[in-house]
Amino acid sequence: MKILPYQPNQSGLAYSVGTTLDRFIKSKQSDFPFASGELSQLLRDIALASKIVNRETNRAGLSNIGGAFGQTNVQGEEQQKLDVIANIRFIRALSKGGEVCAIVSEEEDAVIDLQNKSGKYVVAIDPLDGSSNIDVNISIGTIFSIYRRKTPVGSPILEEDIMQPGTEQVASGYILYGSSTMLVYTTGFGVNGFTYEQSLGDFFLSHPSIQAPENGSIYSINEGTQNEWENGVRAYVDSCKNKNYSARYIGSLVADFHRNLLKGGIYIYPATKKNPHGKLRLMYEANALAFIAEQAGGTATDGSKRILEIQPKSLHQRTPLFIGSKKMVKDALSYFQKSAASLL
Ligand code: AHG
Ligand code: MN
Ligand code: MN
Repeated sequence: MKILPYQPNQSGLAYSVGTTLDRFIKSKQSDFPFASGELSQLLRDIALASKIVNRETNRAGLSNIGGAFGQTNVQGEEQQKLDVIANIRFIRALSKGGEVCAIVSEEEDAVIDLQNKSGKYVVAIDPLDGSSNIDVNISIGTIFSIYRRKTPVGSPILEEDIMQPGTEQVASGYILYGSSTMLVYTTGFGVNGFTYEQSLGDFFLSHPSIQAPENGSIYSINEGTQNEWENGVRAYVDSCKNKNYSARYIGSLVADFHRNLLKGGIYIYPATKKNPHGKLRLMYEANALAFIAEQAGGTATDGSKRILEIQPKSLHQRTPLFIGSKKMVKDALSYFQKSAASLL
């Protein structure tokens, strides 16, 4: 009897589909001291909800789920039907899973207390990012941050459980519903990206150990608001133009961030006259992406402070955001400092 070792890809006929998200999460569980698997399960719950949202996003042009919902959220922004659907899907998945005790969502005025006596984790989520792009078939996303609650499991939720700075995140990530659907996340041990294989219904590791290029030549900012920028921002953007950098702006933070993460670039949403504290939200947009950026070797700041060190004071707090390749963000900061110094 002959026994031969299995030789993967020997025939060369079929390509290997590789590692599923599930298997990858399981294999990484030992990165956490005292891990009991709850965080892994929580990531799987988010992945499952994202598959449902992905399905609904793909059908948006066909079914009656495009367009406005007819209400505004707590921030006065018009909600799209898919904003509301995605919000319901993620909250349902997180409440059923049992690992989460409280949720902060862009679409909810207050913290949702899941009344879950065993939930250790708090999730902050932008269920659908870039929602003005839904009706025009352009990439949109989901952004999430995961924190461990500070007070004992089973006790009432307190402010200190929710209002944690980004440095306390135990995981963060995003799902990009783009030309392909991707899930990118970090648990503080590098950044990994997974692509959704529609026919198999699963995410597969496609971008292991993502490293943001240290420098780049793409700048992403809504130039329509340039009359409202501070001089430092204007000077920096002028310098990008003088270097013939490429301007790329989709208007979906997740998509703009993802492109710059892979190709090298900077995304800027500065303070403007209309949004004097910036437009993006600290707790469920900036923090999650800042954690990913730093884990991939990039940087994120509000123009003077590291995003992750900002102590949130309110749930829907906004922040200016300068995020992306290390050298570009550093360069941008030097322009702001020069401009601030000239005012002294
Ligand atoms: P959301 O759809 O979750 O409200 O986020 C929209 C954000 C962000 O995705 C994007 O980068 C930014 O708004 C675009 O704003 P402008 O249209 O002002 O450029
Ligand atoms: Mn958003
Ligand atoms: Mn949103």
